[in-house]
Amino acid sequence: MTVKMVDDSPDVVLKPIDESDIDFCQSLASQPEVREHQPLKQRTVNEFREEVRLLYSEPDLSHPTHPKYKWTVINEETGEKAGIVSFDKLDLEHKIGRIGYTISKKFWGRGFGTAAVAALIQKIFLESDIERIEADCSIHNPASVRILEKNGFGLEGIKRSYLQIDGQRVDHFSFGLLRFDWEREN
Ligand SMILES: CC(C)(COP(=O)(O)OP(=O)(O)OC[C@H]1O[C@@H](n2cnc3c(N)ncnc32)[C@H](O)[C@@H]1OP(=O)(O)O)[C@@H](O)C(=O)NCCC(=O)NCCS
Repeated sequence: MTVKMVDDSPDVVLKPIDESDIDFCQSLASQPEVREHQPLKQRTVNEFREEVRLLYSEPDLSHPTHPKYKWTVINEETGEKAGIVSFDKLDLEHKIGRIGYTISKKFWGRGFGTAAVAALIQKIFLESDIERIEADCSIHNPASVRILEKNGFGLEGIKRSYLQIDGQRVDHFSFGLLRFDWEREN
């Protein structure tokens, strides 16, 4: 699926993650700037391979019980890998999920984060029965806040001392997007 938001935003494609993305995942996790606002673990190649095989082998978002998904964000113009996005079904009965997103430093500031999240939301609402998408981001991460706002998420509160990042517990903004709101705008 290719998503174009506005005229000057990049075209991105979301490709289900597989073993061929392990080097890219490692290069992302090794960038200190990328780890600044999220608890991204560095793993060995074998640990990544096991994780992809055990957790991310199911690409079908409509699967009734599978909970975890990841995609590589491809810059459609060049074919380069620009980032990773994720989606976790948190509550199957109540149709609630949570997204995550990481863009490689060399692509920052060019609209890839915004376009990747737009593509991810579209995919989730079109291919699953999820009714509510949640996203949490550090209160010190204004670019991430802006991405969520531009994609229609509403601020719902602050999770105090929520995640431990680089040894410190960090307050996080809690955002939500409802299918109802997204369908009205799209
Ligand atoms: C956060 C992240 C995804 C942003 O990716 P990106 O590709 O640079 O995002 P975009 O280019 O789409 O820019 C998003 C918006 O943030 C704004 N922005 C960027 N840095 C900013 C800053 N320091 N202060 C305020 N706004 C900022 C941009 O101007 C843009 O808004 P605009 O279109 O209104 O001008 C990227 O920096 C990243 O992957 N960081 C590490 C991982 C991470 O923090 N993930 C999110 C976890 S919640």
